[in-house]
Amino acid sequence: MNGHYEQCFPGVWRITLGTPDQLTPHFFFGDRESSRLSEKSEQPLPWPKEKIRWENRKNGFLVTLPLSAGERLYGLGLQFGSYLQNGRRKTLRANADAPKDTGDSHAPVPFYVSTAGYGVLADTAKNVTFDCGAVKKADTVSRLPSAGKGAAATTEELYQEELRSQEVNIFVPGAQGLTLYLFADETMRGVVERYNLFSGGGAMPPAWGLGALYRCYTHASQDQAESLIRELAEENIPVSMIGLEPGWHSHAYSCSFRWSPERYPNPDRLIQLAEEKGMNLNLWEQCYVHPTSDIYEQMQAHAGDFEVWNGLVPDYGDPEARKIYSEMQGRLIDQGVRGFKLDECDGSDYTGGWFYPEFSQFPSGLTGEEMKNMFGALGQRAVNQAFADRGLRTFSEVRANWSYAAPMGFVLYSDLYDHRQFIRAVSNASFCGLLWSPEVRQCGSAAELIRRMQSAALSPMMVINSWMIPSPPWKQYDIEKNLAGELLPDSQLEDQCRELIRLRNRFFPYLYAAFAKYAREGTPPFRAMALDYPDDPAFAEADDCYFMGDSLLVAPILNEGTKREVPLPPGVWYDFWTEQPIQGGRTITAETHQIPLYVRQGTALALGGGEPVHGGDVIPLEIRLYGTRSGDVLLIEDDRETLNYQQGEQRWTTLSLRDGKALPQTLEGYSVDSVRVIL
Ligand code: GAL
Repeated sequence: MNGHYEQCFPGVWRITLGTPDQLTPHFFFGDRESSRLSEKSEQPLPWPKEKIRWENRKNGFLVTLPLSAGERLYGLGLQFGSYLQNGRRKTLRANADAPKDTGDSHAPVPFYVSTAGYGVLADTAKNVTFDCGAVKKADTVSRLPSAGKGAAATTEELYQEELRSQEVNIFVPGAQGLTLYLFADETMRGVVERYNLFSGGGAMPPAWGLGALYRCYTHASQDQAESLIRELAEENIPVSMIGLEPGWHSHAYSCSFRWSPERYPNPDRLIQLAEEKGMNLNLWEQCYVHPTSDIYEQMQAHAGDFEVWNGLVPDYGDPEARKIYSEMQGRLIDQGVRGFKLDECDGSDYTGGWFYPEFSQFPSGLTGEEMKNMFGALGQRAVNQAFADRGLRTFSEVRANWSYAAPMGFVLYSDLYDHRQFIRAVSNASFCGLLWSPEVRQCGSAAELIRRMQSAALSPMMVINSWMIPSPPWKQYDIEKNLAGELLPDSQLEDQCRELIRLRNRFFPYLYAAFAKYAREGTPPFRAMALDYPDDPAFAEADDCYFMGDSLLVAPILNEGTKREVPLPPGVWYDFWTEQPIQGGRTITAETHQIPLYVRQGTALALGGGEPVHGGDVIPLEIRLYGTRSGDVLLIEDDRETLNYQQGEQRWTTLSLRDGKALPQTLEGYSVDSVRVIL
């Protein structure tokens, strides 16, 4: 069996082994590669070709790749349970309720990156196993402790790192071949950037998408939803998105995609009210089509042979099914809807098994197994099409993803609710072109609520998901339990939550620039520490803090206490709250009621106002210079809402600060209010 090697772009190779499947993620999403990849530097292959081995086994196709001692491996998607993948065996399967760290996930991604400067994408939609260090028979003998050091006396010793073989095995059951894409760069971050550009470049949210999303109680009627919108506006809770949960449907499980005439008799009025209050509407949906839906008849011939919640499962592998869905979404967009929450496209095997079986068949030729893994991705593609047809961007939610995800303007979320895992997921998402939202729901105490609000405020999308509670979570608690009383004397819990939403909004200019870099250069806007500091384990193995953009380190406190250890990378950093410089290159102890947040010395940080940003707004900037009197700020100027930026209608403006003053510069959409030097 021969392998076929082909260079697609500098530092990107396609390796075709055996006879790969036809209907793979590349087949569906491989048409969006960014032309910027051609400008990248040439790179050598990370290993000689003969180091890649493959074979047809009785039950599937096996590829074996080399792994050098000391390499660290990351990725494989939205893994809640682990960060470093060395020594782990993961079988990637889309699943909502992974009980263990097995590879089941809302968004597994068959892509991993190595600190040695390469990444491997397995182009399959099947449940693929990545074995990052299984020991083959011959290796075992020479590596057993008894061979050199005497028998192992503890389990740690028995399973220690050096017992693992120096190879990665990728196994695709039922396949007769596999295409790999190999990405190489001087740095691991550069590898991820190439992968993201290969997927089409990162998503560019509209301005309102970088504000906060409040999701209403699922049983809310139109009157109740409208009262809530008014209440949020009157109480100056500055959210920019309002989400309706299943209750807006005439039938939700499965979906009619029609407004309920009893509960939502006048959706236009609701949308208008939301618009008046500066909020865009986001609608919950799942993809299963109820018999009362307008698209049910049309979808009949383009659906799988099993149903979910008595609804059709559209065959999104079929362009016609995507078109029917996309046109239906288009009608809601025309009504004024600006975002969707594509729920339950991941399936659940551990909670009673609501989903179509993996042995389902779809007219396009996809199996249930393949569809399950790509269902969320293909659904997003259809929704993105509906927005693209109208020249609009979206920033929406989805509960499942797979490979090639970077360009989709969708953020992942979960019903699982472990704060520690939620923060690990911010980092893990960044290896694989995913965006993840550690959303806030009701909490056990005010302190927990504040801690979760803090994390959400400094994450890809700030979501307050009140689908289970009629009023906002900050109205749930007794002020006596208020953790942050010392932080904001005399304030109420609601005030503190408002401040956190305002904080989110203030970061708009900075975040917008970080996302523009994601779109154009593939640089993840929220980033695992390992991507910037891969060599020192203190930073490379820290999965409870992450970078937001290039200059800020976020280290959430995950419990109700006030202290945590923070591995602060080399150089001088400034505490965002106290403005004190701190020497990095070591682990420090942070003690605060705020969210520990550090600014890299030399940063010129532009903060906006606390209100949500919309298209034509002029944002008053407060510019802070950290440890310097001069610096540059990148400001992105465009209409903040349409796709015209893809046609070059976006200006990257560098605002220069010299000696504590802004140099004259014509700005569109921003004005410099103040400049402050922090030394
Ligand atoms: C879940 C989802 C929740 C909420 C709920 C409504 O699947 O994760 O956020 O939307 O459905 O039924």
